Amino acid sequence: MTAPLTGAWLGVTLLQVIAWIGACVVGAGGGRMPPRIRRLALLSGALLGTAAAVAAAILGVLLAGVDWSFGAEKVLVAAPIGVLSSGLALAATWYSLRSERAASPPPRWPFGVLVSAVLGGLVAVLAVLVVGSEVGWPAVAAAIAVWLSGSTVAVLATLRRPIRLQVAVAAVAALCLGLLTLVTVFGPTTGSAASGHHLVESVDDGPTVSVADLRETATGTEVRRFELEARHETITLPGGASYDAIGFGSVPGPIIGVTQGELIEVTLRNRDVEGGVTLHWHGYDVPAGDDGVAGVSQDAVPPGGSFVYRFLADQAGTFWYHTHQTPLDGIRRGLYGTLVVLPPGGIGESTDVVAPIHSMGGSTLVGADAVLRVPETDGAVRLRLANTDQAPRRLVLDDDAEILALDGDELADPAPLPAGTVLRIPAGGRADLRLPDGATVAVAIEGDRDAGILIGDAGEEVPRLSFAGPEFDVLDAASGAQPDWARGPADVRAEQVLDRLVRVVGGLPRLADTINGAAFPFVDPIVVGQGEVVEVTIVNRGTETHPMHLHGHRMLVLERDGVVLDEALRLDTLDVRPGEVWRIRFVADNPGLWMDHCHNLEHAVSGMVMHVAYEGVASPFDLGGDHGNAPE
Ligand code: C2O
Ligand code: CU
Repeated sequence: MTAPLTGAWLGVTLLQVIAWIGACVVGAGGGRMPPRIRRLALLSGALLGTAAAVAAAILGVLLAGVDWSFGAEKVLVAAPIGVLSSGLALAATWYSLRSERAASPPPRWPFGVLVSAVLGGLVAVLAVLVVGSEVGWPAVAAAIAVWLSGSTVAVLATLRRPIRLQVAVAAVAALCLGLLTLVTVFGPTTGSAASGHHLVESVDDGPTVSVADLRETATGTEVRRFELEARHETITLPGGASYDAIGFGSVPGPIIGVTQGELIEVTLRNRDVEGGVTLHWHGYDVPAGDDGVAGVSQDAVPPGGSFVYRFLADQAGTFWYHTHQTPLDGIRRGLYGTLVVLPPGGIGESTDVVAPIHSMGGSTLVGADAVLRVPETDGAVRLRLANTDQAPRRLVLDDDAEILALDGDELADPAPLPAGTVLRIPAGGRADLRLPDGATVAVAIEGDRDAGILIGDAGEEVPRLSFAGPEFDVLDAASGAQPDWARGPADVRAEQVLDRLVRVVGGLPRLADTINGAAFPFVDPIVVGQGEVVEVTIVNRGTETHPMHLHGHRMLVLERDGVVLDEALRLDTLDVRPGEVWRIRFVADNPGLWMDHCHNLEHAVSGMVMHVAYEGVASPFDLGGDHGNAPE
């Protein structure tokens, strides 16, 4: 919704810079132009530059009106400097044009003021790239100082003042720029709860329990045992190329299928994955110590090592598992599989199909091959789709279907998915579809014509279906009554402002994917107490989709871009698109230290990771350290 406004803001700000650069060029080198043309060019450049600065200020205010996070630095830093510098430069232009007619030679200082307007525009851009929405007074002061001292250098240069003075002021300008960088780029790396050895030392002074001790306590129910061995394996991709995969015995790993109420016990062994491996149960609310996040709930399992995960299968639905040690590389290369929990009475469909969709070495895998074929069936088919990639996947069916569940949560009322409607599954998300009895159905996947799902006698090849149809809106899946805690005051309110800013990642400043102006591990956690109702507002200031995923809890979606839901929609992975604002709630009913991160793992690697930390829970594990723990 705000993406066009943000784009327009950047556009007019750059226009401001270009117009003033143009005015400078005409002012400095316009001697060879016919005087009237030169004056006209100078004046139009100045007027355009000023108009652009005013337009940027208005757009900044409009953005701040949608949500303060969208406009904070534009209103507090960019607009005052942009408008003031342009206004001064316009006045200087006017003065110089007037004095040109009267006196000769005309004064040179107005030229310095024009340069100052160029600087004003550049500081505005700097504010957006470096300061971001978390604007503190140090950042405001430093930005103003950068502009003021830079402008002083420009004016002094035109006054032919002693070179020493100019050098001195230039040094001040550089100092201010350095200060701005220190405060905003390096600032978040100090004074954060995450700056120590451990991710979260302890968020209060009371007694602490180790996350490693928060393990499954349930007993007395049927135990289902599984073994997964992580190992290198060369596989043949659908196109015929061979690929150096890493899998849990196969790619994808075996389906872990159990019935609700059973206790799952999975022994993970690492045969030869040098960097280590873990098992994380995506979307499943396991005890914190079984969450499988390297450096948070355990150490990465080294080659030859093992780890046993135990948790009660208390929720039916479609989930998936993957390594949470260097997961971008690990999952991409095959360290993933599905977890399917059936309700005690079984499902209402006679055929149950699991279809994880994955990109690997330039091919798309649906299950283990490009095309997943399901032989003709009599009854209805339940198709469990999972997106194990970094970006959203868009699918389309050639027949009417129904959405039964999203992210493993059975909808109170299935949502119709008419033929031709595009189903968009966020990275990490799942959707269970019900296909009509005995139907012949083809599912096409955008971006790879060779990949898809063919059910019944749907032909040999995946048909070329159009993706031009309308997209199913996930909000339309909301159904059934919301819990009581959806209303009334929340105990904890937090914000996640997603952005792209220059920040320190892995020890070096770079363009990072940030949350609240900081990059992992320097993002302050959301601190909660057991039983509290937590409300989080997620604001995407960026230009890319961020599939935000919270571990250990289901998120109840309350609102997106002002559309308030009055029915229940529970997700574990949110498709937060550029410019969107989502409001969600969850109940803090699962003590631990929980990751909350973007499941586009490229963004996670570049900083978009934070934690929900329960009071009194600490992690004994280190990031990095002897095990090279790297949960992002
Ligand atoms: Cu799918 Cu942090 O995980
Ligand atoms: Cu992201």
